[in-house]
Amino acid sequence: MRVIVQSDAAAVGRTAARFVATLVRERPTCVLGLATGSTPLGMYQELIRLHREEGLDFSRVVTFNLDEYVGLAASHPQSYRQFMHTNLFAHLNIDQRNTHVPDGRALDLDAYCALYERQIADEGGIDLQVLGIGTDGHIAFNEPGSSLGSRTRLKTLTSETVADNARFFGGEQDVPRLAITMGVGTILESRRCLLLACGPTKAQAIRDTVEGPVTAQVTASALQLHREVVTVIDEEAAALLVRRDYYREVERAQELLESGGLRRLVPGQSTS
Ligand code: GLP
Repeated sequence: MRVIVQSDAAAVGRTAARFVATLVRERPTCVLGLATGSTPLGMYQELIRLHREEGLDFSRVVTFNLDEYVGLAASHPQSYRQFMHTNLFAHLNIDQRNTHVPDGRALDLDAYCALYERQIADEGGIDLQVLGIGTDGHIAFNEPGSSLGSRTRLKTLTSETVADNARFFGGEQDVPRLAITMGVGTILESRRCLLLACGPTKAQAIRDTVEGPVTAQVTASALQLHREVVTVIDEEAAALLVRRDYYREVERAQELLESGGLRRLVPGQSTS
């Protein structure tokens, strides 16, 4: 797992947007997995800027969101569909028919979840999945104890998640208790994952995810099993990482590799 530590949330957003933008330029028909929550907002703002100022073209991009609250219509102000519309889709030249957010009002939930999985497969799978992380280490709404092989399904939210997300609603009493969420297994099938985290409340979850054991109690830790994960976090979220200095060295080496300065990494080969 690659760990990139940035100075603050704004830098996390810009760095994350660079990964997405590079993919969109290389593969204009790519399939993006998208996340909600406050963490990806900086990345979305930067993508909107790149679209406006540099013409980053989303016209053929396909998106799948991770999750949605059960019971909320797409038009509900706190639905994740509304969140995506307000914070991203409305500002891009994306074809709304190519955007998928689970339907929180689906009547036959099991059949609907199976359909969502089929839709992802029919588009050829997700090229890059953007992920935030819950304070309990969950990805999407895969709460502690979720099977690491789980697929899109119904999930009951923990009281911690309900409390965390109450700020978006009138209070805890208004937060739905159930959600449709991609499973951990669904997420692990994405070709690449981009995990984002900012702020001190995410420090323990990031430590458990990056340096702890792989466990269903911290579903983000399953990302250790994925072959291409980039974790972009700010200093506060990185505060509890034991191998922080090493991750910095790896990034320095990566920069040298990308800038063609490979020889400077090999002892005795330095020309400067
Ligand atoms: C919810 C979402 C997650 C998100 C998490 C963190 O639980 N289902 O996908 O990662 O919130 O949200 P925030 O970025 O606001 O901290």
